[in-house]
Amino acid sequence: MALYQLPDLPYDYNALEPVISSEIMELHHKKHHGAYVNNLNAALEKSEEAQRKGDLAKVISLQAAIRFNGGGHLNHSLFWESLAPLSRGGGEKPEGELMKAFEKEFGQFGLFFEEMSAKTTAVQGSGGGWLGYDSGKKRLVVAATANQDSLFSQGLTPLMGIDVWEHAYYLQYKNARADYVKNIWKIINWKKVSERYREAASS
Ligand SMILES: [Fe+2]
Repeated sequence: MALYQLPDLPYDYNALEPVISSEIMELHHKKHHGAYVNNLNAALEKSEEAQRKGDLAKVISLQAAIRFNGGGHLNHSLFWESLAPLSRGGGEKPEGELMKAFEKEFGQFGLFFEEMSAKTTAVQGSGGGWLGYDSGKKRLVVAATANQDSLFSQGLTPLMGIDVWEHAYYLQYKNARADYVKNIWKIINWKKVSERYREAASS
């Protein structure tokens, strides 16, 4: 049995409409995320075999595929959980400890929102915008990643992410990435992000 499996979405493919179309969600989940999972499993299997044979050159040559596809699996799993249908609380502002942390770090929630929108829209090529937690400095951070790099490789714990690969929006928004980023705030699952924050801040 494969080591990693494509997780089910926590909602139907059409549940995020009109912000993200059913067509995008189905392709994005089944084809794109599915491919990252398959390619990750294949690379890990080859790596295991190479390790058994003591073939260090082969192990090293597989690192890039593991990093890319492993990052793709992690990033997409997190992205799906960062979203929720409007009917299930999507877009409702964060409360409690997370809201306090936003106010401490950014002055007010609106300033975080502006910074993250700007940094996410400005990602060159493919990548993502993230709200992360820096456990060393005990603070929230807005960051961007390229391709399928994981925020963990910057030493940060990802709390919420916005995928800005063209596969995430092009069929619906064409080249208007800024409109996609503006709309996605309507379906952010702040309840889930708060849970992640509590977990990251207490570990
Ligand atoms: Fe994606």
